[in-house]
Amino acid sequence: MTITFGRPVRSLWGLAEDVTFLNHGSFGACPLEVLKQQDMLRAEMERQPDVFFREKIMPRESGSPLRDAVGEVASFVHANASDVVFVENATAGIQAVLRSMKFAPGDRILITNHTYNAMRLMVETRCAETGATPLVVQIPVPTTWSNILARFRDALTPATKLAIIDHIASPTALIFPLREIIALLRNNGTRILVDGAHAIGQIPLDIGELAPDWYVSNMHKWLFAPKGSAFLYASPAVARETEPNIVSHFIKLGFPHSFDYTGTRDNTAWLATPAALKFFQGQGPEAIRAYQRRLIAHCRDLLSPLGIMPVGPDDMSAAMRSFILPQNKPAAPEDGPALMLRLWNEERIQISAVTFDQMLLIRISAQVYVTEDDMRHFAATLDRVGWPNRA
Ligand SMILES: Cc1ncc(COP(=O)(O)O)c(C=O)c1O
Repeated sequence: MTITFGRPVRSLWGLAEDVTFLNHGSFGACPLEVLKQQDMLRAEMERQPDVFFREKIMPRESGSPLRDAVGEVASFVHANASDVVFVENATAGIQAVLRSMKFAPGDRILITNHTYNAMRLMVETRCAETGATPLVVQIPVPTTWSNILARFRDALTPATKLAIIDHIASPTALIFPLREIIALLRNNGTRILVDGAHAIGQIPLDIGELAPDWYVSNMHKWLFAPKGSAFLYASPAVARETEPNIVSHFIKLGFPHSFDYTGTRDNTAWLATPAALKFFQGQGPEAIRAYQRRLIAHCRDLLSPLGIMPVGPDDMSAAMRSFILPQNKPAAPEDGPALMLRLWNEERIQISAVTFDQMLLIRISAQVYVTEDDMRHFAATLDRVGWPNRA
């Protein structure tokens, strides 16, 4: 079967007709079919709440529909279901790990200058609580695979107790050389937490092979799940010490069941993840990724005549790519939001733009509902409206 992406599939999403949506990376966009499944689950929850929570969510020896849903996600990423829990988002998963680990004065927690802002703040907070110190690996852009590895090699110290490594970074959209970085960290005796917020769905993911200590990914981004659905993997070596952010009835059961029920909440996004997986598989992961790569390459070719260059080589990006906008002075923090607003107000184009290392970066997401026409419309508009301090 040949699947035609672009305009023909756009009606599978509820996106507003007049929006050119090139920012799937920030919050995702959930297909109507998956939302319908979530609506059905919600209706079931409200028909008989007691039965719903006791039979579908709470841990039971005979298993639960929640655990079955975890099992489907786990098998998709080549992990055991007993090593995986659902969390609301990458922020919550990373917070749980940081709070679970003990730190003392002198310990270092490694992040990079590409680390998502919320994670940096979380690390700074945990360090203030424990006397540990952040260790920020600086990776200037443009960069390469070997340059990133060299930066890690140079920065590591024996005191580095935990490292939080992006699989695909937020501001730069770069795919990090994760397997090689994990090998370096293992050699150093450093615990490894992978922030794979953008990974599941965007790139093939084999957690069994990567073998980190922890891995967090958002299913509401590139796997098409409803918002508020992410997973946290903990290897058997660290599972026992991994505790949820919220202490509730099942805390003493330990990982994974201590995460399954953490008070009354709407768990339907989690229960709808099998529907998201089915939608994703139905569209064809290979076909999806090939289409996204083609669109991203098209975007690169359209931006190049404007002097706009990518932050890294082609093989370090997938469905999302960041580019450096040439400016005649160092970028100010307000340049990114100003450009986003300009594109939105002028032509209802949504992209992501940030200031990174005194450079203005734009990040373009190519989801299957995006077309080559959308990319042309974006590039032409950018050229027409310009950007702050355009060089
Ligand atoms: C690399 C990275 N980590 C974590 C997050 C946080 O995701 P969430 O807001 O779903 O917790 C994001 C969000 O875009 C991200 O890009």
